[in-house]
Amino acid sequence: MNSSRRNFTIITLSLALLAGCSRGKDDQRIVLGFSQIGAESEWRTANTQSIKSAAATMGIDLRFSDAQQKQENQIKAIRSFIAQKVDVIAFSPVVETGWDTVLKEAHDAKIPVILTDRSVTSDPSLYVGFIGSDFVEEGRRAGRWAVEHFKDVSGDVNIVELQGTVGAGPAIDRKKGFEEIIASHPNFKIIRSQSGEFTRAKGKEVMEAFLKGETRKIHLLFAHNDDMAIGAIQAIEEAGLKPGTDIAIVSIDAVKGAFEAMIAGKMNATVECNPLLGPQLMTSVTEVMAGKPIPKRIVVEEQVFTMETAKQHIQSRKY
Ligand code: AHR
Repeated sequence: MNSSRRNFTIITLSLALLAGCSRGKDDQRIVLGFSQIGAESEWRTANTQSIKSAAATMGIDLRFSDAQQKQENQIKAIRSFIAQKVDVIAFSPVVETGWDTVLKEAHDAKIPVILTDRSVTSDPSLYVGFIGSDFVEEGRRAGRWAVEHFKDVSGDVNIVELQGTVGAGPAIDRKKGFEEIIASHPNFKIIRSQSGEFTRAKGKEVMEAFLKGETRKIHLLFAHNDDMAIGAIQAIEEAGLKPGTDIAIVSIDAVKGAFEAMIAGKMNATVECNPLLGPQLMTSVTEVMAGKPIPKRIVVEEQVFTMETAKQHIQSRKY
């Protein structure tokens, strides 16, 4: 292609892209730019689905961007939303730190930002609200379940921990909450702890390494999400052990896959983390656009499910 033809093609493509991104003059819908982390888990897929369907139901023009686990992609997406002059920006930050500059840019452009699922360490005046779970409490719930499960054991309870993505809010907070509870039980010992990046594949890989490298008996696996626990179940079975019996398993999310594992006797308990944040997010977006204040923090209600009760709940689970 000669250079004038190439330039023409680039200009045509850019105009087409801009046309796709801008509102028609009769389109009065609110435009929401949303940067999602990626598709690392069953939880994340349900979260994306909830956001897309709530936007459609509430007539919000959603510009959705998948960051494929990379903070730099989220920052690029937010800058692109600012350039497009969207009405509101929402995002689920992959990690907690490193957002100050881009949040200031959105603030200077007078575009309100709502955080969903995970939070950031930036100055809270840079966003209007945060909708999501209390991850520290989720870790505490897993810890309380473990303490109750091993209450008759006086010897060491050796624990291996599969952490979520390094630097992510849920990984930091769930660890903190769990450790807070077991701190008053000195026989509970975390003997190995490593990131499994919230994915099944990595959860399996890290559990394999724990099983190969450990000579002490492992009594409990604490996984920061169900996907890593499900990956670890495969590793435990391949090592000739019975997950849920030889090694007790508690994890977090309460996705369908965890209920199936509990019904099969391979997982003992899961702490709920609700991904269905779409309707609440869209309500907050419309309120912000109507000039109404929204709560700075909206916490999602959650509970704990065990293998004893899994069967009675699985049919009513929505994710
Ligand atoms: O931020 C929520 C966490 O991220 C979920 O527990 C996990 O499954 C997801 O990937």
